[in-house]
This record gives sequence, structure tokens and C-alpha cells, in this order.
Amino acid sequence: MTDHRIPLAGVIGNPVAHSRSPDVHGHWLKRYDLPGHYIPLHVEDIDLEQVLRSLPQMGFAGVNVTIPHKVRAMELADFISDRVTLIGAANTLTFRDGKIYADNTDAYGFLASLRQGAPDWNAAAGPALVLGAGGASRAIVSALLEAGAPEVVVANRTRSKAEGLRADFGARLRVVEWVTSGDQIADMATVVNTTSLGMQGQPALKLDLSGFKRGQVVTDIVYTPLMTPFLSEAKSRGATVVDGLGMLLHQAVPGFERWFGQRPEVDDDLRRAILG
Ligand SMILES: NC(=O)c1ccc[n+]([C@@H]2O[C@H](COP(=O)([O-])OP(=O)(O)OC[C@H]3O[C@@H](n4cnc5c(N)ncnc54)[C@H](OP(=O)(O)O)[C@@H]3O)[C@@H](O)[C@H]2O)c1
Repeated sequence: MTDHRIPLAGVIGNPVAHSRSPDVHGHWLKRYDLPGHYIPLHVEDIDLEQVLRSLPQMGFAGVNVTIPHKVRAMELADFISDRVTLIGAANTLTFRDGKIYADNTDAYGFLASLRQGAPDWNAAAGPALVLGAGGASRAIVSALLEAGAPEVVVANRTRSKAEGLRADFGARLRVVEWVTSGDQIADMATVVNTTSLGMQGQPALKLDLSGFKRGQVVTDIVYTPLMTPFLSEAKSRGATVVDGLGMLLHQAVPGFERWFGQRPEVDDDLRRAILG
């Protein structure tokens, strides 16, 4: 029997109104002229399990999961990808044959964005400095190690969280002190800000950034504003910079393809649509 139902997908969060995912998926649905809808779903913690079990019966092919449900979603899934195990959180769920398959596409999104924004970037060219050790940092550290960075240096205001990453990711990860971490920059091939510093409404990142130089690739996962003071400083010293919007857009690609059956493009058209 043919299934004529229109595929549904969405993003589950609390709050969820700020999410750009409905705009991203909505843009692609229109662009590829596909039947389907992508909906923001505000779900309380206590309701998450029941909601996840009901969505497939309502025609949902899958959902993205955002704060605060990423860890619980992993725990509730029937199958989890290696990436979810490594990162400890899920952001993309696919429903198939009554089962929940959980994946985390942040690492993929980070690498795809760097490769698009800095085509000559090669993780193996030298060590990488990662500022921050929160949820996004875990995905980025795993991505950099997998892509072949010979060493990943991590600095975080709360040092114990960076030490936690070292315990999980092993010997190619070195922890340095937050306040003096700017001293490392000159020796790095890749530098990433994964903290929320520099975001609209947040304090600026106050580290010594004078070590930025030509030949480095520098990226910030904050994307409001697109050109953070951190990226401006790197650019003014000759480094190649990649803004944080690309990661947000690329991490949506695998989910869209699984749910709606078309691999979508991340291009200037999409960037313009999201930046409004
Ligand atoms: N572009 C994308 O696709 C993408 C994806 C995910 C997240 N993001 C953005 O990335 C940022 C981090 O997200 P997350 O999920 O990793 O958040 P998170 O888990 O809350 O981690 C926040 C990080 O920022 C650090 N931080 C916050 N305030 C600080 C301060 N005043 N001084 C020094 N460090 C400070 C925290 O250090 P402590 O551990 O010491 O608190 C921690 O390392 C957010 O702005 C988020 O919007 C972007």
C-alpha cells in the first residue's frame, strides 16, 4: 500500500520560538517544491517521552531537538549513532518502524561549514585551539580530532569542564588555563570560539588575540552578529575567517534529507533568507 501522508518534521525545545530551524527547513521545502511541513514544538520536560512516542503516529518522520532536551532525547532513543555516544547528546531524531533513531549532526555541520567557508582548510595542518567546553564544544572537539587535527588545545573558564573533555577524548587533547589561552593562538592552525562571548547581549571575549596571523583558519560559532569582534580581529590580522551561520545551516542538512528525501544545498540564497 502506498503511503500518501505528507511528511512532517519539527523542532522540539523549551523555549523554541527563537529557533531558526523552521525558516531553514521551510526555505528548502519551498525551494525543492516538496510536500511537507516543519513545525516548532514547545514541549515541557515532563511531556517529552509521551510526545516522542506519539509523533510518528501523527505522521512525523523525525524532529530536531534543542535545549533543554538533547540529553534526555538520547536516553529515550531506541538506537543512537556513534556520534551521539561520543558527544553525549542528540539533536536529530528519525522515526522508523516504530523506533527512534538518534543522531548528532553538529560535528558534521561544523566541518561542512569550515570546508565550504575555507576550502583550503586542512585539520591536519596543525594544532587547533577550542575556546569553551560546553555542549557545542564537545561536538567540535570530536569533529576536529576525527578530521585529523594533531592536537586539540581546550581552554574554558571553568577548567574542570575542559578536564572532563580530556578524560573523554584522550591524549590528543590538552587543557590550558583560560585567562592566558590567548598566548596559544600564534602556534595554532585552527582557532574556534565555542563560548557565547561576543554574542549580542553578552560580554566580549577578553583574551589576548594578537597572535592571529595569515595562514590560520578562525571560526566563531556565535552568529549574531555574523562578524563577531573575535572574527574581526582575526580578519584584520590576515587569518581566514568563517562565521557561525554556516554550522547552523549545515547541521540541518542530514535531517532534511532523511525526512523529506532530498539532499538540500547550503548556499547564498539560504543565507540571505535566514538573515532576512
Ligand atoms: N552556530 C551554531 O550552529 C551553533 C550551535 C550550537 C551553539 N551555538 C552557540 O554557541 C554558544 C555556546 O553554546 P553551547 O550550547 O555550547 O552553550 P553551553 O553549553 O552553555 O556552553 C557555554 C560556554 O560558554 C562559556 N561562557 C559563558 N559565559 C562566559 C563568560 N562570561 N566567560 C567565559 N566563558 C563563558 C562557558 O564556560 P563555563 O563552562 O565556564 O560556564 C561554556 O564554555 C551559544 O552562543 C550558542 O548560541 C551555535
